[in-house]
Amino acid sequence: MKSLEQLSSTLDSTGQAHLLNFWDSLSSSQQQQLHDQISGIDFEQLGSLLSQESAGGELSALADRAQPPPAITLEQFHDAQAHRHAVELGSDAIASGKVAMVLTAGGQGSRLGFEHPKGMYPIGPVSGCSLYQMIIEKVLARARQFGSSIPLYVMTSPPTHVESSNYLAEHDYFAYPADDFRLFCQGVMPAVDSENKIILAEKHSLFLSPDGHGGAVAALTNSGCLQEMLDRGVEFVFYGQVDNPLIQACDPALIGFHIARQSEMTTQVVRKTDPLQKVGNVVAIDGRVQIIEYSDLPAEYACRQNEDGSLRLWAGSIAVHVFDTAFLDRVSRDAASLPFHRARKKVTFVDRNGEKQIPVEPNATKFERFIFDLLPQARNAIVCEVDPAEGFCAVKNSAPAESETPQHVKDAISRLHRQWIRRAGVRAEDGVAVEISPLFAVDEPQFARRVQKMEPICEPTYLVDPGQDS
Ligand code: UTP
Repeated sequence: MKSLEQLSSTLDSTGQAHLLNFWDSLSSSQQQQLHDQISGIDFEQLGSLLSQESAGGELSALADRAQPPPAITLEQFHDAQAHRHAVELGSDAIASGKVAMVLTAGGQGSRLGFEHPKGMYPIGPVSGCSLYQMIIEKVLARARQFGSSIPLYVMTSPPTHVESSNYLAEHDYFAYPADDFRLFCQGVMPAVDSENKIILAEKHSLFLSPDGHGGAVAALTNSGCLQEMLDRGVEFVFYGQVDNPLIQACDPALIGFHIARQSEMTTQVVRKTDPLQKVGNVVAIDGRVQIIEYSDLPAEYACRQNEDGSLRLWAGSIAVHVFDTAFLDRVSRDAASLPFHRARKKVTFVDRNGEKQIPVEPNATKFERFIFDLLPQARNAIVCEVDPAEGFCAVKNSAPAESETPQHVKDAISRLHRQWIRRAGVRAEDGVAVEISPLFAVDEPQFARRVQKMEPICEPTYLVDPGQDS
C-alpha cells in the first residue's frame, strides 16, 4: 500500500492533486476509503486513455467500409442435416464437461430504475421469478439434460455484488450445484470532467463505475476463474447477459456450429426490423467481423438498402457469444486487446468548494470496455442468426412508452411459451399469460417430449417440474 506522500506525488504528477483537497476535513475511515480508491487507479492506463483523441473520425471511416457480415442465416441454421450435426457436436461437448457459462450482471441498470441489481428483477410473467432465477435454471436444465456439469460464472460489480451475493445465497443458488457456481466481481473506472480531472462523488470518494461488460476478461483472469476453467478442461464458454431472459443458454446447436466451423468466437444476431434499432451492428470490415454500436453508426449508413429494399447492415447484436477458452486465455494476456470506449454522462459531483452539484447537461466522460471488441481478433469468427421471438428480448427501460420494458419482455415469454404449447397440439387461449419453467422444459423439443395429455390453457399457467417448488 502506498503512503500518503507517494499517493500525493502521483496525483501531483498526473494533474489530479484536487482529489486530496478535502483530506484534512475527513474522518480517518473516510481518509482510508479515499486512499484505497485512489490506490486502485491505474494512472498509467488512465493517462494513456486521456491522451488519446476521441475516435469520431475513425468511426465514420469504419462505417464507410462496413459490409454485411458473412452469416449463418436462420434458414441455414435450421437446415435439417447441418442442425442435427451441430446439435450432436454441442451435446457431446456439454456431456463431456467442456462447456461453461458466463453470465454478466454487473451493469447498474440505470434506465430501468429498479432499486436492486437488475438480475433480481421479477420477470416471470406468471411466477414472478427473477432474471437470475430464470437464467440460472436454464443452465441447470441443460446440465441435467446431459447429466453433466456446466460451471456457471456470474459476474457482478462493486455496485451489484453484495446484494446479488446475499440474494443468491438466500435462494440457495436456485439449486445450482455449489461446486459449479462462482460469483466474480468486475473492476471499476473513474470518470473525468471536461478538463480530464477525475470526478469526486463525495469529498471522501471518487465517482467510480463498472468498467463495462468487456471487463469480464480481466475479471475472469484476476479472480482465477479463467484458470479454473482451463484446469477443469472447459473448452467453450457460452456468454450471455442477465437482462435477456429469452437467452437460449448453452444451446447445443449454437455451440455445435461454433465447433464445426472451428471458430474462436461465435456471435448470435437478430435481423433488424428498424434501421435505427438500438442494437450493435454486426458487420464485416476488411474481412473481419466486428460490431459498430448503434450510437456510432451514422443514420445514412444504417439506412442503406439492398436492391430488393432489404436492409444492407441487417445484423443486430444480442450479446450472446460462444468463445474458445483458449482464445479468452490468449486475449487475456494482452492488456490492449479490449479498447476503452468513452460515454458522456450526467454525473453528480462535488465542486472545488465541496458543494454537491447536479448537472443539467452531460459533464463526465465514463470509460467502458465492450466484450464484442474481441470479434475481429478471433479466428473464423462466425455470426448466427436467431429469431428474436425465440432468443432475444432484453429488459432495459421502465417508462411504458419505451421499448424493451418489463411488460414487453413478459409478453414475449408468454407468447413463446404459448407457441410451444400450441405446436405440441394443445389449445392455449390468445393473450393468456403462460410460463414454462426451464426445469420443466428448456426448449421446444424438450417440451414436445415431456408434454403429455394437457388440458387447454385458458387461465394464467406456470408449468413446473413435478418435483420443483413453484
Ligand atoms: P447495458 O449496457 O444495457 O447496461 O448492459 P445495464 O446496466 O443493463 O443498463 P443501463 O445502461 O445502466 O440502463 C448490458 C448487460 O451487460 C452487463 C449488464 O449487467 C447487462 O446484463 N454489464 C454492463 C456488466 O456486466 N457490466 C458493465 O459494466 C456493464
